[in-house]
Amino acid sequence: MSKNPIIKIENLYVDFPVKGGLPFQKKKHISAVSDVSLEIYPGETFGIVGESGCGKSTLANAMVGMVKPTGGKVIFKDKDLFSLNRTDFKKTRSDMQMIFQDPFSSLNPRFSVFQLISEPMFIRGGFTKKEMEQRVLELLKLVGLDEKDLHRYPSDFSGGQKQRIGIARAISLNPDLLICDEPVSALDVSVHAQILNLLIDLQEHLKLTYVFISHNLAVVKNVCDRILVMYLGKVMEFGSTKAIYKNPLHPYTNALISAILDLDIKREKTILKGDIPSPIDPPKGCRFWQRCPYAMEGCIDIPAPLLEVEENHFVACHKLSGFNEEQIKNGLDKRINKDE
Ligand SMILES: Nc1ncnc2c1ncn2[C@@H]1O[C@H](COP(=O)(O)OP(=O)(O)OP(=O)(O)O)[C@@H](O)[C@H]1O
Ligand SMILES: [Mg+2]
Repeated sequence: MSKNPIIKIENLYVDFPVKGGLPFQKKKHISAVSDVSLEIYPGETFGIVGESGCGKSTLANAMVGMVKPTGGKVIFKDKDLFSLNRTDFKKTRSDMQMIFQDPFSSLNPRFSVFQLISEPMFIRGGFTKKEMEQRVLELLKLVGLDEKDLHRYPSDFSGGQKQRIGIARAISLNPDLLICDEPVSALDVSVHAQILNLLIDLQEHLKLTYVFISHNLAVVKNVCDRILVMYLGKVMEFGSTKAIYKNPLHPYTNALISAILDLDIKREKTILKGDIPSPIDPPKGCRFWQRCPYAMEGCIDIPAPLLEVEENHFVACHKLSGFNEEQIKNGLDKRINKDE
C-alpha cells in the first residue's frame, strides 16, 4: 500500500439543522457525522458499515463535496477540498465519482443510455459528439452492455443492467476514487455477485480506489481491505477486514457480525436490542451505551476514545480503554443492569 493517502478526512463533523420548532426555542441539530478521521490509500477498497441512519452516506457525500461539513477537513490528493475556488473544486471533484444505491431512481428515465453515460463529459465540456460516442461505446463494453443498448432508455433494462449504466456513467471521466453507496442492496440477490465481480474487475483494470458502503457485513467481508464501523455518526471500530472479522472488539461490531449467517463464526453472539436512537441530541458519552450489553455508569457521560488496540486496529469502547482511578472510585466502572 502506498504511503500517501488519496483522501484524508480530518475531524469531520456534519450537522443538519432540524426544521420547525418555536422561535424562542434553541435550534436543534441532527449530528449525522461526528469527529470522523480516516485515510484511504490508492488501490484499496475501504468499507463503511453500520445500521441505517448511522451517517454512512452523509460521510461519503461530504468526502465528495456534495455536503458541506460543519467542521473538519477533506484533503483529496493533497488539496483541501472546501477551500478550493469553484473552478478547482469542479476539476478536483470530477476525480471522485459515486455509484448510488438505487439505479431505478438515480437514472433520469427520459435520457437514453448515450445521454446518461455521456452527461458527465457533456458537463465538463471539451469533447466532440464523436469522441463522446466512442467513449460511451468503450464504457458499455467495459461494464458488460452491448452497443445496441446505446439508444435505449432505462425502463428497457433490468435492475442489474441499470446499475451497470450507473457504473459506466461514474467511470466516464476516469475518476481515481469511486464511492459505491450500497451498490447492490436495491438489486435482486441473484445479480449481487455479477455487479460485485464487475466492480472488482474494473478496480483492477482502471486502478481505482473504492469506498464501499454497506450495511451487509457479509458483502463487505469479501470486497474490502479495511473497514470503518459507524454508529450514530461516530466511529466505533476501524481496522483491516481480517482483524475485524477475526477479533471484533466493539460490542456493536460483534453484534453486526453476529447478525450474518456465517457458519464459520464460533464466537459468542451479541444480539442487538432496540433501534438506533435519534441523532438529535445524541448521548453525551458513548453513543452506543443504551443498546450495549456491557454498558457501565461512565459510558453515559464520558465518550470512549478511539484507541489502537493492536496494529492498525482501533476501537472506541470503555470496556477496553477502562476508566481512570478517580472514575473507578466514583463507581463509573460499574455495569448498568438494564433489566432492573
Ligand atoms: N439532507 C439532510 N437533512 C437532514 N437530515 C439528514 C439529511 N441527510 C441525512 N440526514 C440524517 O442524517 C442521519 C444520517 O443519515 P445517512 O443517510 O447518512 O445514514 P446512512 O447510514 O447512509 O443510512 P442508510 O443505510 O439508510 O442509507 C440520519 O438521521 C438522517 O435522517
Ligand atoms: Mg445511506
